[in-house]
Parts: sequence; structure tokens; C-alpha cells
Amino acid sequence: MSKVKAAVFASGTGSNFETIMKCDDLACEVVLLICDKPGARVIEKASRCNVQTFVLNPKSFDSKEAYEQEILRMLQAAEIEWIFLAGYMRIVGKTLLEAYEGKIVNIHPSLLPAFPGKDAIGQAYRAGAAVTGVTVHFIDEGVDTGPIIAQEQIDVLPDDTEETLKARIQKVEHVLYPAVINQLLSTTD
Ligand code: GRF
Repeated sequence: MSKVKAAVFASGTGSNFETIMKCDDLACEVVLLICDKPGARVIEKASRCNVQTFVLNPKSFDSKEAYEQEILRMLQAAEIEWIFLAGYMRIVGKTLLEAYEGKIVNIHPSLLPAFPGKDAIGQAYRAGAAVTGVTVHFIDEGVDTGPIIAQEQIDVLPDDTEETLKARIQKVEHVLYPAVINQLLSTTD
């Protein structure tokens, strides 16, 4: 039986994209990468995995709606059922939220609702938090505010630097995200 098709949206390095792609027993097939940052490192990673990639510069569209309509056309042409955000540095708008209601998932490097938005690891570190973590959640129109699916807590150690903390957080992300994707797909139509 063929697997449901998914797209990953990413803007940066793509370490989460890479671990999703390397997961042997992923319950979906990632067939599309949408990237909003020409030159982002995730693009080479997708090319190595032979994943069809569209790089769109939002600034070359008249509006967010026009930008997302173009993405929607690509998603529909590829028969995408699920969207996994992995370092996509943009708020998803109404066009995609309505078309993929309950089917867009994000990973965020903090224990939401703490430290939403950009540089969540730096925010937690600078705030002197004793614990932080990773959250996988559905998205809504807010910034990292949608319903939480799974979280994993990570202690901030006394001798942590921001870099050592980030490395531990990413290690957890790389296990948690594929596991949550599989769990979601096994329990959702
Ligand atoms: C991850 O920490 C993810 O939680 C956040 O953006 C980062 C993306 O990292 N949303 P990468 O591009 O997957 O390496």
C-alpha cells in the first residue's frame, strides 16, 4: 500500500528535515520540500535525497495570499496530505491553514507556551530557565500557539553554554519529531 504524501517546509539548515528523511519506518512519504530562503542549506539536503524542492521568495509575490496560493497549487499537484514545518521561519496564513486544517504540524525548541517565537533556545538560556525542552504542535494563526501534541523536557545544566544546550535540544528533536509524525499518522485519517 502506498504511503500518504507529506511536504516539509523549511528555511534553514534542515537537520530536522534530514532526520525525517533518514527515518526508515516513517509512516508517510516526504515528496516535497518548500523553502522560502534561496540558498538555505536544507535545499542541498533535499537534492541529495532526491526530494522535489520549490524555493519561493515571498518578496516576489504581491501578497502573502498570492505566495501561499502558489504553494497550495504545488501541494495539490503533488497530492500532499500533511505538512511538517521544520524551521520554517514564517507565520502560515489563512490560505494554507484552511486548506490543511489539522494537518500542519510544527516543532519548536522550547516547552511551549514558554519562549515562543524566534531564538527560543537563546531566550530560555538568557532567562536562566532551569528547564526547557521541545514541543511538537499543530499550528494555528498565532506564533507557536496551536494545540500541543507532544513535549519533552530538557534540563539546562549549570555548565551549559547556549551551544551545548542547543546540541542537546536538537538531539531530542531528531528523535521526537519522526516518532510524533508516526504516532499522528497512525491515529488520524
Ligand atoms: C529547530 O530547532 C526547530 O525546532 C525550529 O527551528 C529549528 C530548525 O532547525 N523550529 P533545522 O533547520 O531543522 O536544523
